[in-house]
Amino acid sequence: MEKPEKDFPKGATCGQSAKISQIAPLAESDLAQLTALEASGLSPWSSKQLSQELGLAHGWHFGYRKQQTDPLCGYIFGTLVTDQAEIRKIAVAPECRRQGVASRLLAEALVMLTAKKTSYCFLEVRESNQSAIGLYRKAGFTVSGKRKNYYDHPKENAIIMEKSLEKH
Ligand SMILES: CC(C)(COP(=O)(O)OP(=O)(O)OC[C@H]1O[C@@H](n2cnc3c(N)ncnc32)[C@H](O)[C@@H]1OP(=O)(O)O)[C@@H](O)C(=O)NCCC(=O)NCCS
Repeated sequence: MEKPEKDFPKGATCGQSAKISQIAPLAESDLAQLTALEASGLSPWSSKQLSQELGLAHGWHFGYRKQQTDPLCGYIFGTLVTDQAEIRKIAVAPECRRQGVASRLLAEALVMLTAKKTSYCFLEVRESNQSAIGLYRKAGFTVSGKRKNYYDHPKENAIIMEKSLEKH
């Protein structure tokens, strides 16, 4: 797998140092911030849903903070079942966007999944969400399918994207 770190903005860190100071698994204590951040987006998860996702036996998640004690800037949620991973949610606070936060969260998740011998990672995204599609393409995901009228409020097709994590 290519090293996603090479695409990070100048001065950004990842891997071990990011894990210590900036990127870390989410906790129940993050629930209020997560709920507030979700409320401003499309297809928001409720506090109850977020709590359930935090507690999933086959789930994984990371949050990003500029400094360890700062508020959350962004977060990613996913699952890993046998060797197949799904990215279920990635979001960045509006004031933190276009600074490489989502790229770093995604890179951290892919490093973790690769270490767990995951074969491939997939996700669904709204067809009109060019920001997210651009993010995933940049990380090496490709379009593998479409689900018609998959989303509600507003009704929209989902694009399925995937990335192999096997070393070739
Ligand atoms: C999609 C989202 C997570 C991107 O977060 P971000 O931290 O701003 O993304 P990054 O800064 O890491 O950007 C990485 C790449 O994504 C693409 N991208 C991100 N925002 C974009 C935008 N507004 N317009 C076009 N491309 C965009 C670009 O390819 C970008 O690379 P570049 O900066 O070299 O051009 C963020 O816009 C967001 O939270 N949106 C609302 C929630 C959402 O749609 N989540 C995805 C579906 S679950």
